Amino acid sequence: MSVMSRTLDSDRSPGAPNDRVAAAQAQPNIALIKYWGKRDVALNLPVVGSLSITLDTLWTRTEVRFSDALDADSIVLNGKSDPKQLKRTSACLDLLRARAGIRTRAAVVSTNNFPTGAGLASSASGFAAMVLAGDAALGLNLTPAEQSVLARRCSGSAARSIFGGYVEWAHGSRADGEDSVATPLLPADAWPLSVAVAITSTAEKAIGSTEGMNRTADTSPYQDAWIDSQEADLAEARAAIAERDFERLADISEHSCLKMHALALAAKPGLLYWNAATVAAMHVVRSLRAQGVPVFFTIDAGPQLKAVCLPSAASRVAAALREVPGVLNVVETGLGGPAHLIPTAAAAAA
Ligand code: PMV
Repeated sequence: MSVMSRTLDSDRSPGAPNDRVAAAQAQPNIALIKYWGKRDVALNLPVVGSLSITLDTLWTRTEVRFSDALDADSIVLNGKSDPKQLKRTSACLDLLRARAGIRTRAAVVSTNNFPTGAGLASSASGFAAMVLAGDAALGLNLTPAEQSVLARRCSGSAARSIFGGYVEWAHGSRADGEDSVATPLLPADAWPLSVAVAITSTAEKAIGSTEGMNRTADTSPYQDAWIDSQEADLAEARAAIAERDFERLADISEHSCLKMHALALAAKPGLLYWNAATVAAMHVVRSLRAQGVPVFFTIDAGPQLKAVCLPSAASRVAAALREVPGVLNVVETGLGGPAHLIPTAAAAAA
């Protein structure tokens, strides 16, 4: 990887000669069997395993430049310096620096081609891309499993965006979290599905997932039931994927989504991530499915609805969602591959 990063450096002009720079792209993932709750907040260890699909056309492109000329880390997100993101960025860079045994500061430039912080898993793709780029820039030669562990420490669900297609992230049992790692279950092209993301708000969410998870664990009466029932849901989803049984995957995925939201709604004060358009879109998906259209919904800690369907139904599903009052935009995507290195010029131009 270090060789590749050096080759890719040649197409980039600014920076000092000894800078170590690389760039990577990662796509967001959407959990079908949800992660909600941490068994260790500092290490970002989940109380439950989870299972996701990695998307295709939505991406984060990130360049990481370690330079002796810098006296502080910096992050430019979507073209603007973003001090709010600096603490988490530096914490992630610290993990990479610790692996390399260096203290060199870094400049991070990251671009998303979709709204940031609105339930579209921008932190998953963002930190997966940062870990890959940082690994290559520093020549750490991490394995994908090691990248997944590092990405998890930066943002839980980023562990899954290292891989493409269908991915499972284990809760693990070790106190140091080294067994809480994602693994690929099936590549995207082994069972292509389509996803229509109905964007119902581009505002940043009021309550982030860490705060929401902690409040839920402290106050929701359903927390134990959530943890106790997760293994059965994971087994059901794994079986559905192995058999390419869409109906079975649809049933268990909607169940997991609604159960996660029921758990969070029962926190004090209750966490209500949906708006009116989210609920209207849920009804539209359910009525399509009742008419025999192979589609189901899932929703994360934000107001966007993701409709997952067989590719043959994609245009009908997207058209129906566009008609829903309050749906601002519908983004259509397929399932995508793993996080990967890109030329630094591509990240700069993003
Ligand atoms: O990784 P985080 O801290 O953004 O949490 C993600 C939580 C959900 O998106 C709601 C569920 C999931 O498994 O991705």
